[in-house]
Amino acid sequence: MNILKDSFGRKFPYIRLSISEVCNFKCGYCLPDGYKIDKSDNRTFINIEEIRRLAKALSELGVSKIRLTGGEPTVRKDFFEIVKILKKNSGIKKTVITTNGYRLDKIANDIKNSGLNGINISIDSLNADTFKKITGHDRLEEILKGIKKLKNLDFKNIKINAVLLKGINDSEKDFNDWAEFVKNNEIDFRYIELMQTGDNLDYFNKYHVPAKNFINYLNNNNWVIQTFGKDAGPSKNYLNPKFKGKFGVIAPYSEDFCKSCNRLRITAKGDLRLCLFGNTGINIRHLMQKDSQLEELKDLILKQLNFKKESHYLEIGETGLTKNLSTTGG
Ligand code: 5AD
Ligand code: SF4
Repeated sequence: MNILKDSFGRKFPYIRLSISEVCNFKCGYCLPDGYKIDKSDNRTFINIEEIRRLAKALSELGVSKIRLTGGEPTVRKDFFEIVKILKKNSGIKKTVITTNGYRLDKIANDIKNSGLNGINISIDSLNADTFKKITGHDRLEEILKGIKKLKNLDFKNIKINAVLLKGINDSEKDFNDWAEFVKNNEIDFRYIELMQTGDNLDYFNKYHVPAKNFINYLNNNNWVIQTFGKDAGPSKNYLNPKFKGKFGVIAPYSEDFCKSCNRLRITAKGDLRLCLFGNTGINIRHLMQKDSQLEELKDLILKQLNFKKESHYLEIGETGLTKNLSTTGG
């Protein structure tokens, strides 16, 4: 039973857990100069024992799904051990990851064998040059090869995310390229509208484009919006019987976006974040130190939930604590 509920009646069966702030990519909207150690904060990233205790507490609070994010979660040496602990000992039913895919080609087998229940891969463009421009890395081909490997291993639940960027990947040609891709692959593709963070104001002003442009494309090309299930989350999905995969849109600036919020976030240093763009973020790590603290940890998370606000205030430019998404994993 899910007992994580806020004062607006929303339930939280889903946690996004960042396990590392480190990322090797340099996406223009996130870490344009690459990852830099935050010298003002010398806390380490949560260790595997802390993760084990946290997951147990969360599962007893009714959380059924954990998404491991980063930074880039697979940069951690103990990445597969973390997955193993979540899969075997935690009571969490589904463990999924979000990755930039840079090692996918090499670790496809391990991913399949780990029992992970799904993978979201960020690919901002199917054009190798554009991909390189956005991420700072000429690795599109490798990543696509990795996806093919996963498909051949019959790995299920592969999704691709791209951030929609004005003049970079928002043309009819870009949309058609992705349509061709989802036509032949049972893979869902979603555009995320660019979000303003503490760090990216100039970039945001230059490249933000409303998700409406892509939605118009979908409407004009026989894509039909899927009426969602109860816990569908913030992505609006579109179906077309001629295509194997679905399209989706995540539009954080749209009205009512926060009504479907079903997730909480925990940073790589053990801060609970009630909202990606909120100012509330207390540390809960001190209660991950001993098995005997389980009840206390559950209590603290439950109490904190009362402070969750109804929505973010992005539309008035308030980005909260989030300097960039490498601490909280999108
Ligand atoms: N706006 C929208 N999406 C972002 N991501 C990272 N930063 C931003 C931003 N400012 C996305 C990544 C990835 C996911 C983890 O979050 O591209 O798909
Ligand atoms: Fe790394 Fe993801 Fe940020 Fe890109 S968006 S720099 S892949 S953490």
